[in-house]
Amino acid sequence: MSVSGEQERSVIQYYGRAAEEYDKEYEIPYFKKLYDKITWRYVEPYLPESGVVLDAGGGTGKWTIPMVKKGLKVVLYDISREMLNVARRKIMREQLENMVVFKEGDICRIDFPDNCFDFVLAEGDPISYCSNPDRALGELARVLKPGCFMAAGVDSLFSVARGMLVRKGPEEALKVLREKRFFAEAWGFHCWAFSPSDLRSLFEKNGLEVVKIVGKTVAYVSRPETESLLQDEEKAEKLLELELMLCEEPSIVGYGGHLHIVAKKKAYHE
Ligand SMILES: C[S@@+](CC[C@H](N)C(=O)[O-])C[C@H]1O[C@@H](n2cnc3c(N)ncnc32)[C@H](O)[C@@H]1O
Repeated sequence: MSVSGEQERSVIQYYGRAAEEYDKEYEIPYFKKLYDKITWRYVEPYLPESGVVLDAGGGTGKWTIPMVKKGLKVVLYDISREMLNVARRKIMREQLENMVVFKEGDICRIDFPDNCFDFVLAEGDPISYCSNPDRALGELARVLKPGCFMAAGVDSLFSVARGMLVRKGPEEALKVLREKRFFAEAWGFHCWAFSPSDLRSLFEKNGLEVVKIVGKTVAYVSRPETESLLQDEEKAEKLLELELMLCEEPSIVGYGGHLHIVAKKKAYHE
């Protein structure tokens, strides 16, 4: 694959180094008991009964595997060869390889024809990490069949700004709010962050009707002193119930650590 720019090179470099340890990082209770469960709640009901899914920026196959287990064929598409290699190993171990096509590529230039997927997933921030979210949305919407759904997770502008305010002060927070982009020092690349209204506009501009925007997570903030809540199974379940009760509430969605969007491509007759 030819790589267009500095942003893509930095993302490829980072995930090239991180791939082998990537899954371990997400095995913590916050993701297992809370975040991933909320994500699946807002993916599963929108999956088609059959057909082909594009798992865009699908990484090590975290969501490809459950979608295949529901009987769907999946194109696991990612800019990082190393992330795809980890995914291939996991998928072969589960003997699911007949249902998956692995494809290296950039979501800003998707090498598939128009209207060919029955569902598109872009979970875990690939839209935030790409060079041009508007171009990516154009591509993701183009390959989705009319009348079908798309779900995506992105970085949340207000949550990032709040984090900057605490760590670096008001100047840096204002910079993020103005540029809607920040440099993730630990990863070595830029990330786009979205307010709920920016996200809505981006999707609508690209011919998608917004079904839901959800904050993940809106009440729970992961801190050493709150971790004990997630260690206790009963409390963790209550916490999930609480997050599911609040995560669509428009007045607080924007405070979610991440935003999750579900949208539908208009059918021809709509
Ligand atoms: C945080 S991981 C999420 C992986 C997976 N979707 C998940 O939820 O575990 C972000 C993924 O997006 C991929 N990515 C970033 N920019 C991309 C781009 N422009 N095109 C395709 N994939 C990209 C990365 O290589 C990485 O695998």
